[in-house]
Amino acid sequence: MSLPTQPLVLPSVLASDHGRIREQAAEIVAAGATVIHVDIMDGHFVPPLTFGPGIVASLSELGVLLDVHLMIERPERQVAEFAKAGANVITIHAEATPHLDYTLDLIRQAGVYAGLAVCPSTPLEVFAEVADKIDLALCMTVNPGWGGQKFIKASLAKLERLAPMLGDGVVIEVDGGVDAGTAGPCAARGASFFVAGNAIFSAPDPAEAYAAINAAALAGFAGPVRS
Ligand code: DX5
Ligand code: ZN
Repeated sequence: MSLPTQPLVLPSVLASDHGRIREQAAEIVAAGATVIHVDIMDGHFVPPLTFGPGIVASLSELGVLLDVHLMIERPERQVAEFAKAGANVITIHAEATPHLDYTLDLIRQAGVYAGLAVCPSTPLEVFAEVADKIDLALCMTVNPGWGGQKFIKASLAKLERLAPMLGDGVVIEVDGGVDAGTAGPCAARGASFFVAGNAIFSAPDPAEAYAAINAAALAGFAGPVRS
């Protein structure tokens, strides 16, 4: 089984009010979101600290898919905990462990979809080495660690190079500075998962903002993923 290939907007709860994470996530689920993005930061791979498996377990009660983005060093040590907490996708960073092949295997063995992320400066070649071990390729469109940053325009050329390197059914995700203006150009270059934090949760009407990004992604989407 593979992940959905139609364009989807994934609200990132990093930008929510952390005292009301589940409530705010539920509001966007009511507005149509079917996947929620959860950013896990360890204070080492990236400077900030965010959530642990407890938040994932709490969000799992919403009954939607949980896309867990591990911005942590040595993610292999945490895969089991996040899988147990209810993650449906676990994405690790190519820069965060010397044991990518092993860690991607661990994720799938835990019954979870495996994602591989790269920072903006990381060459894409690593994807070719593990192409048959991933369900999702995350092309960071900002440097990881903080919400509310500006979309890095060079990401568009990177997406064009990424798409042909991936097998059929591997979803391309973009994360960082994604809004109704940047989602379309990413969609036109093969992205189908659009993570949006501030563009949704800092908007006056988050449900309306979600719908606008969704419409932009759909309009830009080139059709079936890279076929
Ligand atoms: C950044 C995180 C993102 C973040 C995006 O390191 O991986 O998921 O929430 O935030 P926005 O959409 O505000 O750029
Ligand atoms: Zn993220």
